[in-house]
Amino acid sequence: MVYNDNFGRDFWIGNADDIARARILAGIYDEKLFFDHPSIVAQIDVKDKTVLDLGCGLGRIVRRVMERGAKKYIGVDFSPTMVERARKIHEDVKNVEFVENDGKTIPAGDRTVDIVIAELLFQHCPKEISKGYLYEVKRVLKGGGKFIAQIPRDITYLGGFSEAELREIFSDCEIGFFDATLQWYYNIVVTTRGP
Ligand SMILES: C[S@@+](CC[C@H](N)C(=O)[O-])C[C@H]1O[C@@H](n2cnc3c(N)ncnc32)[C@H](O)[C@@H]1O
Repeated sequence: MVYNDNFGRDFWIGNADDIARARILAGIYDEKLFFDHPSIVAQIDVKDKTVLDLGCGLGRIVRRVMERGAKKYIGVDFSPTMVERARKIHEDVKNVEFVENDGKTIPAGDRTVDIVIAELLFQHCPKEISKGYLYEVKRVLKGGGKFIAQIPRDITYLGGFSEAELREIFSDCEIGFFDATLQWYYNIVVTTRGP
């Protein structure tokens, strides 16, 4: 079953046409809040890596990821309009694929991905969906893989997480918390253990 409620799939199907084009592509969401965070950028060595962008929208980060030498970029989003537009906008970029998912699971095999990035996704998901995705991330990441994400804080957001909850979910991984410019979420970098 595809996840679809208030802030669900139908909302994001419409959003690909107006709000996303106007805001996301115009860069109103300043990437310095996330992708260029000084503590985080040093951790994102994408060279020769397979990078999966969860809730990729229009694929805003794909060109930066590929310019930095990634082997492959997989954008995943549950909105068919986002996926379709992203494919068109970035059709000239090689080794890139955009995939529609069910809104709950990650369409990738166990331990097949080096880096998962989730930017501006979990703010829009009910908590049980986000939690399911966090376990999915652990499933698809290779040993030594990294997960870089914005996670809403529990104090300010209904769907948010406390630091303790995240430490428990990722108890078998290393986890670092980096304050974002906006105080209602953290940036986290998780590194899985093992070869
Ligand atoms: C604010 S946009 C961010 C897009 C992109 N990450 C960026 O930073 O430009 C949120 C995206 O998450 C997608 N999304 C929301 N809930 C989702 C879910 N449960 N599963 C997969 N994608 C989801 C939406 O379709 C939308 O494209």
